[in-house]
Amino acid sequence: MALITDIDKAVQLLLEGALVALPTETVYGLGANALDTKAVAKVFKAKNRPSFDPLIVHVASIDQAREVADLNDAAIALLERFSPGPLTIVVPKKDVVPDLVTSGHPTVAVRIPDHPMTLEVIRRSGLSIAAPSANPFGFTSPTTAAHVQEQLGENIDAVLDGGPCGVGLESTIVDLCGKPKVLRLGGLALEELESVLGALEVQTSSSNPKAPGMLSSHYNPGAKIRLFDDFDDLRRNIDNVDNSNVGLLVMSSEMVGDNVFNLSPILNDVEAASRLFIGLRELRASGFKEIWTHYLPEEGLGRAINDRLKRAAN
Ligand code: TXA
Ligand code: MG
Repeated sequence: MALITDIDKAVQLLLEGALVALPTETVYGLGANALDTKAVAKVFKAKNRPSFDPLIVHVASIDQAREVADLNDAAIALLERFSPGPLTIVVPKKDVVPDLVTSGHPTVAVRIPDHPMTLEVIRRSGLSIAAPSANPFGFTSPTTAAHVQEQLGENIDAVLDGGPCGVGLESTIVDLCGKPKVLRLGGLALEELESVLGALEVQTSSSNPKAPGMLSSHYNPGAKIRLFDDFDDLRRNIDNVDNSNVGLLVMSSEMVGDNVFNLSPILNDVEAASRLFIGLRELRASGFKEIWTHYLPEEGLGRAINDRLKRAAN
């Protein structure tokens, strides 16, 4: 596997049907030509991903989205307002999209990622790019090129290094077939979506067959996670144990220490989101058998962070 920064090289590889991990503002994606069934099949194999879990198709513009999907008024309104950005819409698919991409569903997930290098790759190649997060199925999504290399290096052709991901959480997914509903909380705050669509149903069920990325085994950071109601609850408990084996993932204006990863000393949800997966990785890499963490206030990106913590703790 090659670590590259050359956009034309990435374009060439994708046109040849190869797998190239691409930077986005949310997490790194494992990209392949969405209309090339053979290339898409390699994505599932490289990730060890079950074929019932459909992929997001990445495009560079609303016009390009129309090549793969039927866009209704809500879809256009959301794309105009929030794209490029951490939003994925689920809409009826066009026939050109292989069933493998959508796992046989008549719908397709579409997103315009906000990363200059990947937008340029899409434009220069002219391709729509199917890309799940670039991690083995069930593990934490990568937010740097090095994370991709560690987790999938053997199985893919190249990683386009676009630096660390700014948002750090996967995109928010909203289903626009019928009454809009949120299938995954993510990098675009629910409040933002609701400012356009009105109050939204959030389908949080972990057994939702429509979004298997929401299965509870996801976001496994490789250590036992204990999740407290809030920071004070965690602090009360940590005082009562021998905590030398416990890593602490907190959001606190005061807590520091060798075993502490502070998501945001200024208590900012956006900063916390951008550091969440890095924090889980660092604490695990430090060898802690247990990671103690706590829910954040249920607002802004705190909702999506809480969702990921809950799944990681399962
Ligand atoms: O931020 C992101 O969305 C990243 C970057 C790379 O774009 N991608 C990502 O992909 O998180 P992935 O495959 O890890 O998660 C995509 C989720 C899955 O849970 C899948 O089930 C859901 O999107 N999905 C894809 N197509 C769908 C469809 N047609 N209907 C419902 N859910 C769908
Ligand atoms: Mg994923």
